[in-house]
Amino acid sequence: MDNRPIGVFDSGLGGLTVVKELHRLLPNENIVYLGDTGRVPYGTRSRETIIRYAQQDIDFLLKKDIKMIVAACGTVSSTLPREISSALPIPYVDIVLPAAQEACAMSARGRIGVVGTNATLKSNAFGRAMRNIRSDIHVYGNPCPLLVHLVENGMIEPDNQITNLAVQMYLEPLMKEDIDTLILGCTHFPILYEIFNRLLDYKVTLIDPGRCAAKYVQSILLKHSMTAEQTTAGETEYNVTDEVESFDKTASIFLGEKIGRNVHRVELV
Ligand code: DGL
Repeated sequence: MDNRPIGVFDSGLGGLTVVKELHRLLPNENIVYLGDTGRVPYGTRSRETIIRYAQQDIDFLLKKDIKMIVAACGTVSSTLPREISSALPIPYVDIVLPAAQEACAMSARGRIGVVGTNATLKSNAFGRAMRNIRSDIHVYGNPCPLLVHLVENGMIEPDNQITNLAVQMYLEPLMKEDIDTLILGCTHFPILYEIFNRLLDYKVTLIDPGRCAAKYVQSILLKHSMTAEQTTAGETEYNVTDEVESFDKTASIFLGEKIGRNVHRVELV
């Protein structure tokens, strides 16, 4: 049993897709969240910059005496070298393997699309992870960098015309490939789940990496007897590196609860 919090980080709001699912699966766990909103997006930056930012995020969370670290960011997950993550003093979970496993299990015809940031698609991390699990699959990728900005700007309502047009534009080449499964390989994208689903006519299985990663976290905590002992609801502390207000507004809509008093502005050094 371990009452220390789980540390979760992303460049911005996207990692909340993991937090929301952790709240549902493991309601007694304490969570410390870091959204590096002052430097979002990560996905259009160089590999060196992404690694440096990720290391600063990890250092911030390690100072919070956490028991596990979750890279709730497709860009970091597919870029951070294993030498760094495996040297951490606590278990590290990223979103690539859990989502790849789920996609391989769900795809009937083995035609799998991947959407994510430029850096994620360039790394081919999802493709590699899936081919290790299933050799008969075809993977089709398309980077969708605009969507991160739309989410960060709060344009997340299912009927938002600009967001709908952007998603449609990004989906077109994948639809031509007749995919049966689509990995939303950036954690910002499940916030637009309904838009993706509707534009795909509810015919393509969507893989939400936030959900998959949260299930994976649960399995690791159970396996190592590291779940929280407390029977009361856990607390979540939110930290951001830019304005608290805009994060609070969009996060509260997505999470379906007011989080205002738990959001803090922090500096990463
Ligand atoms: N949520 C992110 C990801 O999963 C980050 C997007 C970005 O900062 O570009 O890739």
